[in-house]
Amino acid sequence: MNATTTPDTHQHDCLFQPFSIGRMTLKNRLAVAPMTRISASDNGCATEQMARYYSAFAKGGFGLLITEGIYTDKAYSQGYWNQPGLSDHQQRDAWAKVVEAVHQDGGRMVAQLMHAGALSQGNPYRSDTLGPSAVRPKGQQMTFYRGKGEYSIPRAMLDDEITEAINGFAAAAVCAKQAGFDGVEIHGANGYLLDQFLSEGINLRNDRYGGDIERRLRLIIEVVQAVRTAVGSEFTLGLRISQGKVNDFTHKWRNAETDAALIFSALANLPIDYVHTTEFEAWQSAFGNGPCLAALARQYAGLPVIANGSLHDPTRATDLIVSGQADAVSLGRGALAHADWPTRVHNGASFDEFDPGILSPIANLANEHRHRKERARPLL
Ligand SMILES: Cc1cc2nc3c(=O)[nH]c(=O)nc-3n(C[C@H](O)[C@H](O)[C@H](O)COP(=O)(O)O)c2cc1C
Repeated sequence: MNATTTPDTHQHDCLFQPFSIGRMTLKNRLAVAPMTRISASDNGCATEQMARYYSAFAKGGFGLLITEGIYTDKAYSQGYWNQPGLSDHQQRDAWAKVVEAVHQDGGRMVAQLMHAGALSQGNPYRSDTLGPSAVRPKGQQMTFYRGKGEYSIPRAMLDDEITEAINGFAAAAVCAKQAGFDGVEIHGANGYLLDQFLSEGINLRNDRYGGDIERRLRLIIEVVQAVRTAVGSEFTLGLRISQGKVNDFTHKWRNAETDAALIFSALANLPIDYVHTTEFEAWQSAFGNGPCLAALARQYAGLPVIANGSLHDPTRATDLIVSGQADAVSLGRGALAHADWPTRVHNGASFDEFDPGILSPIANLANEHRHRKERARPLL
């Protein structure tokens, strides 16, 4: 900025308007997107380092923090070595300390519950993987999460294994509530188990969980219903949905807006409080022309929508909200670049580019800490 221009500090005011999702009141429209950081103890407990990491975003002004994907059971849900869990009381109590730290710094916190399904690449409880059908996932395991080579071919889930997965989500949600979280977000996106069931070509089942889109949605619906029954009506519950997958970034729903209408209309009837959409660039048309995915979610589900995808330019985030296409935005890389992104926007301060070295070669917090120290660039 040169000396003759004055920053318009009101330009982004809409980002700072309070907002309620379910029973949860947020001080602004700015959320930290879920980011797996494989920094838990070997038995899946959140650590003090994680508490410091998360509370930095709360100190930096984010109204809502959505955790990294948390595994839900000690069967097939865990995706990565050192991923945190919510599958027992020890893990619950470890998260309680993180939540307390975030609350003390004025943030709200939602636990993202995730079952990795066929994309599991590090699970101490099982040596094989499960999915809707025995189809090897595309792509390669993620090396920055200590993976190597192709994914395993999963075994098609049996009925009692599906029930076990559903019960795992419900039990983990209860643990989240007991840990003091303000809500849970069910991970229905990015190619993990629930998205595997939703996806044709991956779900080849011909039972009640496979076939047309209504049947492919069944597992998501049953998980949502089980979680809602377990946590009661007052606990905030959201669902993340995407087209892209971590192992297939450019995947698009085959029947474009027809599929979007079916999927999001089905969500309208579910006991959820919000939808969290993610795309590479949230403001772009979802299918080449027509509305973006967040706008479609808002239109067909009629629920509050958190939009995600390259929204770290505050003008993009503001535009999406002012135009009514989303109610709030979540930032991944933007939050890693600046844990105080909200404060910076509010003060008209400058921004740095995201430095991918933070996540390289391993995307854990120890590595991030070292990388920042070497460059004298603290998280906050
Ligand atoms: C290191 C890293 C870890 C991620 N882990 C998760 C995760 O656990 N759950 C999830 O839903 N998305 C995860 N994502 C995706 C982000 O939530 C987000 O969708 C993505 O970074 C795009 O948003 P951005 O453009 O603001 O970075 C992860 C992204 C990054 C960079």
